[in-house]
Amino acid sequence: MNQEKRRWLKGFVFGFAPGLVVATAAKLDLFSHLKGPRNLEEIVKETGLSARPLRMILDALCALGLLKKERSFYFLSPDLDEFLGRGDIFSYEAYLSHGFNLVKGWLRLPEAISGGHPEPQGPDPEFFTHLTRGLLAVNWPEATELAGQLKSRGYQRLLDVGAGSCLWSAALLKELPSARAWAIDFPQVLDGSAQEIVRHLHLEDRFVFLPGNYWKISWGEGYDLIILGHICHSLGPEENVTLFKKARQSLARDGELVIIEFIPDEGRCSPLFPLIFALNMLLHTDSGDTYTASEYQDFLARAGLKISERLYLDQGHGSQVIVARPE
Ligand SMILES: C[S@@+](CC[C@H](N)C(=O)[O-])C[C@H]1O[C@@H](n2cnc3c(N)ncnc32)[C@H](O)[C@@H]1O
Repeated sequence: MNQEKRRWLKGFVFGFAPGLVVATAAKLDLFSHLKGPRNLEEIVKETGLSARPLRMILDALCALGLLKKERSFYFLSPDLDEFLGRGDIFSYEAYLSHGFNLVKGWLRLPEAISGGHPEPQGPDPEFFTHLTRGLLAVNWPEATELAGQLKSRGYQRLLDVGAGSCLWSAALLKELPSARAWAIDFPQVLDGSAQEIVRHLHLEDRFVFLPGNYWKISWGEGYDLIILGHICHSLGPEENVTLFKKARQSLARDGELVIIEFIPDEGRCSPLFPLIFALNMLLHTDSGDTYTASEYQDFLARAGLKISERLYLDQGHGSQVIVARPE
């Protein structure tokens, strides 16, 4: 019997557990107590948690490589200092604890695959407020990398649709001192997520928030850049065509539409993340999916746009960028 294959197959049964261990630590704010070495007794005192479960999760976090333990003192692995326990908007905790918001949906995977569509959820602003605060921290390096790649185009009027924390447009405004940005999202998301980053980066005077549902409110016109950051995967093909038509109408004649997305290879067998994410969309949206570059080309063509470029981000965990222009 092939031992390696045996181990690999067995590993799937507890495959869900590391994510939940880390999500629990983030949710309970354990990392902020582990910036310096602490023994179990001290952590019990600081957190008010019971010793037995605490010891178990701390040991598991050691085995997962997030903590170190020396002579019964636990501490955050030093190379994770810049990510965890920071207590600010760039801390990874919000994103890591988002696993709890996803897992309920994933338990319905068998029903979803065998034909019963999971109960329709519709966009939930509370879900998105939490998610986009987390996405800011994890995707900020990608956003600054993309802004560096795009800054020479000198955009002046930017529209960020489904802006979330506004990270993509905010990173660009930092590079384009005379540009302004408009951001559409639900009011709760703009208040609960975008406000903080925009203030943190001193961009209040250069952003106009357009609170509301992007299907319903007017987008305005004459933008030389429209950004769709991780929006298209939550929509079905026809909805994407409709969204691209709205974008086409709001773009200036020489404007560009930038789509940031998880894009599987044409054969749809790799990379893993866009394909797992397609299932995530099955579980959490009515008609979302991940789409190949050829599929985007088709949706865009039906909206009078064409792909002019594809950009690749070194920093990210799989986001790719499609740039499209009016035909
Ligand atoms: C996956 S998040 C992406 C956020 C951001 N663009 C990013 O890349 O981090 C999707 C965003 O679209 C927003 N959204 C979803 N449906 C919307 C709608 N119908 N109208 C306005 N915003 C919507 C959500 O509130 C959320 O902020």
